[in-house]
Amino acid sequence: MTNSDARKVAIIGCGFVGSACAFALMESGLFSEIVLLDANTDRAEGEALDISHGLPFSKPMQIYAGTYDDISDASIIIITAGTGQKEGETRLDLVHRNVDIYKSIIPQIAGRNFKGILLIVSNPVDILTYTALKLSGLPSNRVFGSGTVLDTARLKYLLGEQLGVDSRSVHAFILGEHGDSEIAAFSSANVSGIPLKQFCADNCGDICHANKMKEIAEDVKNSAYEIIKRKNATYYGIAMSVRRICEAVVLDQKSILPVSCIQTGQHGISNVALSMPAVVGENGVEKNVKVSLNAEEETAVKKSAEMLKDIIRELNL
Ligand code: 2OP
Repeated sequence: MTNSDARKVAIIGCGFVGSACAFALMESGLFSEIVLLDANTDRAEGEALDISHGLPFSKPMQIYAGTYDDISDASIIIITAGTGQKEGETRLDLVHRNVDIYKSIIPQIAGRNFKGILLIVSNPVDILTYTALKLSGLPSNRVFGSGTVLDTARLKYLLGEQLGVDSRSVHAFILGEHGDSEIAAFSSANVSGIPLKQFCADNCGDICHANKMKEIAEDVKNSAYEIIKRKNATYYGIAMSVRRICEAVVLDQKSILPVSCIQTGQHGISNVALSMPAVVGENGVEKNVKVSLNAEEETAVKKSAEMLKDIIRELNL
C-alpha cells in the first residue's frame, strides 16, 4: 500500500448505511481521518459534524466532508452510495440504478492513481463489486465487497441463540450471492471444532436438526426483508461488518472472511464476484480459501454464480 495514508478512510454515500459505517469506524479507533462524500454535500457535512461532536467521548481524529481529491490517498475507500432496497424489492432489483451510479463514481477514483483498497457495500454487492473491478482497472485483490460477512454474522448469531453458546464460538459460513441465492454451508459448520451436527445431537434435546437448520438458513436469508418491513432499512449490522473488514485490513490480521471477490476457479467458478472465504489483510484479499462443500452445497453455489453471471452479461461492462 504505497502512497496511501494508512490511517485515512473514505466513505462515499452518506445515507443510513454510510453514516452508520462512519459512526462505527469512529468508535473503532482504527483511523485518524474519516472523509465523507455524498452527492448531497450538506448531508455529508451534517453527518461529519454530528459524528465529530462525539469525539470528546471517544478519541481525537478528523471527520470531515471532502472531495475526490481528498480521498485519493486513503487506505480504504468504502462505497455505500446508491439506492437501498425498499419493501417488496430484492437487492437485484437495484442493479441498473446502482450500476449507473457506479459509472459516475469509479472513474473519479481510478483517475486519481488510488493505491488503496476499494470496499464495495452498496447492493447488489456482488454485481457492483464486479462492476467496480472492471471500471477501475485496479488489481482484483484491492477491490472486494462486504459480501456475506453480514449474513454469516446473522447465521452465527442465530446458531449461538439456538445452541445457547457465544456466537463467536460458532464457525459457519453463508456463501455465494449476498441475496436470495445464498447458501448456508452447514456441512463445514462447527462449534469450537465440534461438528455442528454432533454438537446439536449432544446438546439440543430432541429437536430435528435438519429442519431447524433449514429454518435458521431461511431466517438469515430473510433478515433484511424482515428489518426493512419494520424500519425501512438495515444499517447497524452492515456497519459492524464493515468495521470488522476494515480491522482485518488496517491491522493486517489475515482474517478469514466471506467477502465478495472475483473467483478464480475454485469449485469450477470464475469470472464472477461472490462470497467465498478469503484471507483478508493489508493487501486486501490475499488468498482465496477453498472450503469443503457437500454435493448439494456445491451445486447451489454454482447456481448462485451462474445467476450472477447472467446479470453481468446483460450489463455489457
Ligand atoms: C442487508 O442484508 C440490505 O444488504 C442489506 O442488511
